[in-house]
Amino acid sequence: MKNIMKKLLVSVLGVTVLAASSVSVSAVTIGFSQIGQESDWRTANTDDVCAAIENHEGWELVYSDGQQKQENQIQALNNFITQGVDYILFTGVVSSGWDEILAEVNENEIPLILLDRIPDCADKIDYAAAFGGDFPLEGRRQIQWVGEYMKAQGRDSEDVNVVIMEGTTGSDAQVGRTEGNLAALEDYPFLKVVEQNTGNFTRAEGQALMESWLKSVDDIDVLVAQNDDMALGAVDAIKAAGLVPGEDIIIVGCDSVKAAFEAIVAGEMNATIECTPLYGAFLVPTIEALEAGETFDKEIIHPEEGVFDAEGGIEVEGTVSVKAADVIDERVY
Ligand code: AHR
Repeated sequence: MKNIMKKLLVSVLGVTVLAASSVSVSAVTIGFSQIGQESDWRTANTDDVCAAIENHEGWELVYSDGQQKQENQIQALNNFITQGVDYILFTGVVSSGWDEILAEVNENEIPLILLDRIPDCADKIDYAAAFGGDFPLEGRRQIQWVGEYMKAQGRDSEDVNVVIMEGTTGSDAQVGRTEGNLAALEDYPFLKVVEQNTGNFTRAEGQALMESWLKSVDDIDVLVAQNDDMALGAVDAIKAAGLVPGEDIIIVGCDSVKAAFEAIVAGEMNATIECTPLYGAFLVPTIEALEAGETFDKEIIHPEEGVFDAEGGIEVEGTVSVKAADVIDERVY
């Protein structure tokens, strides 16, 4: 079935491509529907996944950048079906609204691999494998880090004003991290959330939101930003307001991109909770195994992730923070 679709594709594309049809027919084609390029994390994720596929002998990548629009991603998935790709890699900009198109992927028997953000219809569809961050855990760790840090500073006997900068509204990462943030706050009653809004996972919107909070909120002690890009945008806003980021306002990000490590080493951010974008190393053996006829169960695999800060030694759920300066040279993204 797949070979017939490929031959059809080759013939509509014309004579030139037809000449290369013997290579193209035997290649494993992998369609990757990416969200866009909103953050350093996303760039690293795109580079890593694309390189893993492109560097594999006999594999061909068909890449689509959704530019943060669900309709673009649906169109890309439709195109992959029409082209008869062998595998589809998918991460959705938001959690909901994928039921119909992913059911079509299933009907066309194209193995689907879920990456990063898992759609909310995952329990209703078939997929061959799934890898993603444990977003609720990341959100809990952000608050636990703040709570434990404040206790260590002797600041748990006062009210500590916290602002929460959320990611793209309705995305798996925003929903999960917010759920984790709010759940962990119950263990730290001295942390008071005074503002909570979206910075859409981008540096520019993080900066703009922080600028507006600095004008409207009297006393912000802590910024919890659901990714490092927004935290770094907020650092610029805090400096522009004449305050000292990392001192006047404690800042915890998420992702652990190299720029956040640099900010921590410079004293301008305080901590970052890791969320790895490096799925290439998971994908390659998975697709090789699927090609060999192996199957996987529907478990969502969460990579092991750490927490990084200025001094190290802060205990959060499942791990202890590591001093960023000690490992900054090992960061690859
Ligand atoms: O889905 C992962 C999140 O998406 C990352 O935390 C964020 O930086 C990205 O845009």
